[in-house]
Amino acid sequence: MTAPTPGTAPDASAGDDPVVTLTGVGRTFRRSGGQQMTALQDIDLTIPRGSAFGVVGESGSGKTTLMRLIAGLDRATSGRVVVDGTDITELPEKKLQFLRRTLQVVFQDPMGSLDPRMRIGRIVAEPLSVLRHSGIEHRVAEVLQQVGLEADIVHRYPHQFSGGQRQRISIARAIAPDPAVLIADEAVSALDVTVRAQILDLIAEIAARRSLTLIFVSHDLSVIRRVCDHVAVLQSGRLVETGTTAQVYTDPQQDYTRRLLAAVPRLASSLQMARSRAAARKPTESPTLGTAGRNEDTE
Ligand SMILES: Nc1ncnc2c1ncn2[C@@H]1O[C@H](COP(=O)(O)OP(=O)(O)OP(=O)(O)O)[C@@H](O)[C@H]1O
Ligand SMILES: [Mg+2]
Repeated sequence: MTAPTPGTAPDASAGDDPVVTLTGVGRTFRRSGGQQMTALQDIDLTIPRGSAFGVVGESGSGKTTLMRLIAGLDRATSGRVVVDGTDITELPEKKLQFLRRTLQVVFQDPMGSLDPRMRIGRIVAEPLSVLRHSGIEHRVAEVLQQVGLEADIVHRYPHQFSGGQRQRISIARAIAPDPAVLIADEAVSALDVTVRAQILDLIAEIAARRSLTLIFVSHDLSVIRRVCDHVAVLQSGRLVETGTTAQVYTDPQQDYTRRLLAAVPRLASSLQMARSRAAARKPTESPTLGTAGRNEDTE
């Protein structure tokens, strides 16, 4: 077990069997007008199998570009990318299919990533259909239940759900094919602070229970700290620091990391403030997951 229980100290011993290895990876883009733009440069990175691995850095530091390379959605312009023992750097498109089973991504904006015209059942079944999975209906019900939703929501549409519930649906879809690696790219950034904590805890719990590798991207170090046992810090396309979360948070080696640490509002204190405000406004609501279309997640 490597992903920590939410709220506990990070586990520093994620083993040394890498599930993702990047060697000298770079990505440049050509801008209109012919200018080159370097989004990533000389990235050497090893992500231990079963770890909860945070990637942090300011907006534009290259986090999403890095995730797209690992997920096979984009190609490096230099270096090598190895995922689960396969060098995917120049693998033809057709052979990248194996990544669909190995690796799934949860994006920031569930409204953007869930097709509004599709019912939930079809949305969650999509990766299974692509993989010609058997027993799809049963599997869909199972993963919905694992993310705290009722199986009967399969007939509803995304707009009938709150932001937190939509992100639960995205997570259900991502874990349906039982991937070895789950990438969450700013998966909780669009959620309000109370719901954010719930979804974070859900992601951490699922990663730990399934022993999958979680790659968790955020610009917010307090969020990474809650979920991850390892962290890599990106600055302007370069990897400036990496280590266990405990090491990096207690003894940051780079000024940039220190500045990031000093700048972030603490999730715990934001949560405390949100709870105090909520308590002053109204009595505590009970969880209402699965009752689509009329509520937000509440604690
Ligand atoms: N397809 C592209 N064409 C040109 N430039 C790109 C492209 N994709 C990314 N970039 C540039 O690469 C840099 C890194 O972008 P990226 O989206 O990876 O950053 P990020 O760390 O994920 O930022 P954010 O926190 O805002 O999501 C940015 O300057 C961005 O403008
Ligand atoms: Mg991004």
